[in-house]
Amino acid sequence: MSPRHFLSFADISRTELLTLLDTAVAMKGGRYTATPLAGKQIALIFAKSSTRTRVSFEVGTRQLGGQPIFLSSRDIQLGRGEPLKDMSRVLSRFVDALMIRTFAHADVEELAAYSSVPVINGLTDLLHPCQLLADLLTMQEAFGTVEGKVVAWIGDGNNMANSWIEAAGLLGFELRIACPEGYEPNKAIYDANAARTKIVITEDPDEAVAGAHVINTDVWASMGQEAEIALRQAAFAGYCVDDALLTLADPAAIVLHCLPAHRGEEISESVLEGPRSRVWDQAENRLHAQKALLAMLFP
Ligand code: CP
Ligand code: NVA
Repeated sequence: MSPRHFLSFADISRTELLTLLDTAVAMKGGRYTATPLAGKQIALIFAKSSTRTRVSFEVGTRQLGGQPIFLSSRDIQLGRGEPLKDMSRVLSRFVDALMIRTFAHADVEELAAYSSVPVINGLTDLLHPCQLLADLLTMQEAFGTVEGKVVAWIGDGNNMANSWIEAAGLLGFELRIACPEGYEPNKAIYDANAARTKIVITEDPDEAVAGAHVINTDVWASMGQEAEIALRQAAFAGYCVDDALLTLADPAAIVLHCLPAHRGEEISESVLEGPRSRVWDQAENRLHAQKALLAMLFP
């Protein structure tokens, strides 16, 4: 039997996702004391930098009784060109799960295809589903539910935007994405989910934010796009989440940012540090949400 992976929201049902969020709430509240990872080894493979994903997976694995093994592509043979399909079959014989952060999403799919243990997507150029688990938890904490809420995404149609589209399709909330022409989210992901819920794509941040309950943004240049920074700074001028933009949102609106943030670019200092910002809770929720994910994969 092939193992259960978590590469995208296509790998989880709506019911499972809502249960996962309930488990995360119990974990955060100290009401979950099981150790489903006892005796288990989890390899954490990073081909890109990370603060939150690395530490939350290391701490979370230990808190559930398991042992994390941090593997940077700078140190392992992957960085010298060993094929993923070879690494996958070898690591599967040593460890009980693989988490990977890398560039091409197809690489994670290949890793999973050859793995005999669960593979978790810790971010690709296409998707960042683990971050979305934390974001949904933060949204649920703020409003009690995600149902009936309107989420606005301001800026790049990147991996985070694509994962928000998948989450909206699965849970059925309205999503409005404001991005400059040429920086839209993935078309196939949009097409698959636009049939399931209301997803608006516009070039106008004001239109996206009007009456919205959650205002979200992310860096203009993601990891791997460093050579495009100047081009992107020009393209995204006018896509800053600042106090003026927030005056258009719902009076109870919250602001999310997966971090790291570039103050003065996609978000102003006053918004990031201001009363609507939930970014520190959101970062903490990576730990609780991913522990709930691990508990789901190792029942
Ligand atoms: N948000 C997020 O994934 O942060 P890191 O890059 O620090 O892991
Ligand atoms: N879109 C960003 C998210 C970082 C957590 C990136 O891919 O670099």
